[in-house]
Amino acid sequence: VRRLTVNLIEEGMYLARSIKSADGRVLLQAGQRLDERYIKRLRGMGVYIVYVEDKRLDDVIVEDLVRDETRNEGVQLAKHLVKLAGKSISPATINDKTANRISAMTNQIVNEILGNKNLVVNLQDIRTSNDYLYFHSVNVCVLSVILGTVLKLKEEQLNDLGSGGLLHDFGKLVVPDYIAEKAGPLDKDEMEIMRRHPQLGFDALRGNPNVKLLWAHIALQHHEWHNGAGYPRCLKGDDIHLYGKIAGIADVYDALTSERCYRPVPFLPHEAMEFIYASSGTQFDPKIVAAFARNIAIYPLGSTLLLSDGSRGVVIDVNIDCITRPKLRIIEDEDGAVLTDPYEVNLEDELTLFIKKVLA
Ligand SMILES: [Fe+2]
Repeated sequence: VRRLTVNLIEEGMYLARSIKSADGRVLLQAGQRLDERYIKRLRGMGVYIVYVEDKRLDDVIVEDLVRDETRNEGVQLAKHLVKLAGKSISPATINDKTANRISAMTNQIVNEILGNKNLVVNLQDIRTSNDYLYFHSVNVCVLSVILGTVLKLKEEQLNDLGSGGLLHDFGKLVVPDYIAEKAGPLDKDEMEIMRRHPQLGFDALRGNPNVKLLWAHIALQHHEWHNGAGYPRCLKGDDIHLYGKIAGIADVYDALTSERCYRPVPFLPHEAMEFIYASSGTQFDPKIVAAFARNIAIYPLGSTLLLSDGSRGVVIDVNIDCITRPKLRIIEDEDGAVLTDPYEVNLEDELTLFIKKVLA
């Protein structure tokens, strides 16, 4: 497969992975030949990244760490929570049945991640912007569990981290849409309302006998900053709970790589990672940034890279101990001629070559 941004799709390409809505409906089936009409439809749905088939890259298979069904159950749950909340949230919003569903879903995610030896994550960022909130909740859950695994947390700890990750923005369910979905920057009053969501989420989760206190603390602390400049309590360093720190970084990474109303062109993974590096020590705990950087494929499988000699290659493998220098299959030579017989280059060995640009 090849990973492309929608602006690079050409007519006649075939979709390699289905595009689904938050309710699990297939919006566009894998195998679909993309003509002008479908390309337009993808744009209309707010899809930014797609996987297309490419004969030269048939052996490159992008697998998610988490099964489709599990992810879908997470998205359904996130949707269900929005419905339960309606216009207000309280300690009664999440009943025991829903809390059990959250635990079971998270436990399934934890098991699938623990069962996977290779924790270099190729995030499956096929999603539509309309369903941001649901996908985002699940992604924060999954990313948090991955980070927790890297940081050697035990299974039970991972379960709490994941459940809290799913619920991290619970308080946002009562932030008015005109603020939460505002395209431009928030004014002072709007910002103040927005900044109440960690406390609101905490208050509604803390008094709930079906919810663990740790889950509530993740909702409360995910916007605290390592240097004390965050909110709501301006906690600093290790006064911030480890789970709050982890969910905080997962939250920012996923938000940056998503299409949002105020930023229609999402960051590519390496750009989001640059942002996170730049905020290490201020917004984020450097130890967690380091763990994150080691385990997220900044050049995901199927990405197209422009190299310093002018050739173009597609990432076919990630070098686990050298994540910034993946293995490539060169599909265009230095002069831009398409190679009928592509060859491979391992950037880990070819130290005179460097990545000039990420094309998709
Ligand atoms: Fe938040």
